[in-house]
Amino acid sequence: MGGRQLPRVENNPTRVGVNRDLTVKGERRFMQAVRVRITVNGDEYVRTVPTSMTLLQFVRDELDLTGTKEGCGKGECGACTVLLDGAPVNSCLVFAYQCTGRSVVTIEGLSQGELLHPVQEAFIRHGAVQCGFCTPGMIMSAVALLASNPLPTQGEIREAISGNLCRCTGYNAIIESIDDAARRMAGWATAQDADAARG
Ligand code: FES
Ligand code: FES
Repeated sequence: MGGRQLPRVENNPTRVGVNRDLTVKGERRFMQAVRVRITVNGDEYVRTVPTSMTLLQFVRDELDLTGTKEGCGKGECGACTVLLDGAPVNSCLVFAYQCTGRSVVTIEGLSQGELLHPVQEAFIRHGAVQCGFCTPGMIMSAVALLASNPLPTQGEIREAISGNLCRCTGYNAIIESIDDAARRMAGWATAQDADAARG
């Protein structure tokens, strides 16, 4: 690139050319391309992608981070939830170019090697995973909740995951898991301690 400065891309992408070879989901088509620079799970990636590429397609198809799932593809199920600058977003509704210069965390970014995130551990402990399709998105929403509200009520947990649909579990085990993870992360040994703290 000879030191050329990357285009700053916000909501109005700077097109860098038409690329006939880029594909979205295996389709070959004419499309405009844009250069993006996105930090994902702490690593910076520079790619030229179609302007129509979603963040979901970017992490799955460009980076092979397939933990993030595609359910509805239109913002209704939450399976594709990732953190964008710390906030949970439906990655199927965000274009990759809108993420230039920003930081994304996917489910792959939560664990440290073999060491799972406390929310992941709690999902396993409480059997909150059945088919598992909703699980990555559900966990990302829970992690975002606990970052801003370390000891949420069950009502606050329900609200935080209201955009994440699960067809299998009936939600109780999921809510118990998030509640348990919150207590453990906050250093509370028992549910009674946590209930007393909540008043
Ligand atoms: Fe994004 Fe359903 S796949 S909300
Ligand atoms: Fe199957 Fe939630 S575990 S959709």
